[in-house]
Amino acid sequence: TNKFTYDPGFMSTAACNSTITYIDGDKGELLYRGYPIEQLAVNCDFLETCYLLLNGELPNAQQKKTFVDTVTNHTMVHEQMQFFFRGFRRDAHPMSVLVGTVGALSSFYHDSLDINDPHHREVSAIRLIAKLPTLVAMSYKYSIGQPFIYPRNDLSYSANFMRMMFSTPCAEYEVNDVLVRALDRILILHADHEQNASTSTVRLAGSSGANPFACIAAGIACLWGPAHGGANEAALNMLEDIQKQGGVERIGEFIAKVKDKNSNVKLMGFGHRVYKNYDPRAKLMRETCHEVLTELGLHDDPLFKLAMALEKIALEDDYFVQRKLYPNVDFYSGIVQRALGIPVSLFTGIFAMARTVGWIAQWNEMISDPEQKIGRPRQLYVGAAKRDVPSMDKRK
Ligand code: CMC
Repeated sequence: TNKFTYDPGFMSTAACNSTITYIDGDKGELLYRGYPIEQLAVNCDFLETCYLLLNGELPNAQQKKTFVDTVTNHTMVHEQMQFFFRGFRRDAHPMSVLVGTVGALSSFYHDSLDINDPHHREVSAIRLIAKLPTLVAMSYKYSIGQPFIYPRNDLSYSANFMRMMFSTPCAEYEVNDVLVRALDRILILHADHEQNASTSTVRLAGSSGANPFACIAAGIACLWGPAHGGANEAALNMLEDIQKQGGVERIGEFIAKVKDKNSNVKLMGFGHRVYKNYDPRAKLMRETCHEVLTELGLHDDPLFKLAMALEKIALEDDYFVQRKLYPNVDFYSGIVQRALGIPVSLFTGIFAMARTVGWIAQWNEMISDPEQKIGRPRQLYVGAAKRDVPSMDKRK
């Protein structure tokens, strides 16, 4: 008698129309607003990509300058925010700190905010994109007991972040263009990925008219899970484990374990729900990995060599070929971040920093859509039939 379609995991439900991101999983194609990710990664920086995702078109030189100036002017957080950090344990996971502090931003920008006003929505988007790097860097500084470093407006988005992470009052971080460009590329590649779990969470939270800062905090909470944003951490841990056990010579043994259905071991950083071909982001990330390691004089990095050997063996193995399992973006991103000096526990925080623009662009698209309703899935009820409440002495 149920009239609803059973669709756990929303495998076959389209919850919205969207003009932002297109994925062809069979071809291994990813487009932002129609532009291939390969071209954006080479020709644009992260803030241009943000402008594109938010506005639908790439900025011209004047529009870019205005956008960069506006974002740059919002990079500081309210001085009161420091006290939120000081309430956390020093060893708190950075994602718990981010969920809390981004949620707290809603209390600073609530009373004057009208989400039905496009200008107010634009200012909220700018504030979020501008303040996320400051908050991620503050969570790192707090965890290692160093003073917070304020943003500097003469630096690019990614250079400013690296400086807030690695400068101290005693020693200024020396900006390295290759490393900054690598971080920028990580941000571009993670900026949006249509209706994934965290983006759907942001849309669902936002569909009730909730404050956008609170909606992004909900997205960060969802991203934290190991099946979503936590995979880059897992992929790096896997490579380190194989390395500890002997490296390249142990790959055969490891692959045999992955193929053994009773072992429950997966090749982390491989496979994707949508991509049944090479994840285009993985190719770009492998290239960046190579550039960064060369720049740092680490071209013999054993983990990179191990990752490439593992990829080659897996791609020639029937098990992976038959199941169309290819490397995804997380296979190489951990090695790059590690080389940049970013601690493993912050990997998902970097992902959140990158995805904030995608989340807020999708939220904005939803709020502007006249057909959008509050998100309210139905269910197939399989519980008890209607019955009377028994008196206490009759209960079993
Ligand atoms: N290693 C070994 N076998 C695998 C793997 C893997 N990484 N991924 C899938 N398989 C096998 C799976 O066991 C199944 O085999 P069989 O048909 O014999 O039962 C078959 O391939 C199909 O897999 P599935 O689990 O039905 O595919 P899914 O679409 O439900 O899962 C996935 C996609 C990403 C969860 C999965 O591939 C996986 O767990 N990969 C490792 C974790 C990972 O790298 N995640 C990052 C995803 S990209 C970042 C993001 O989107 O947040």
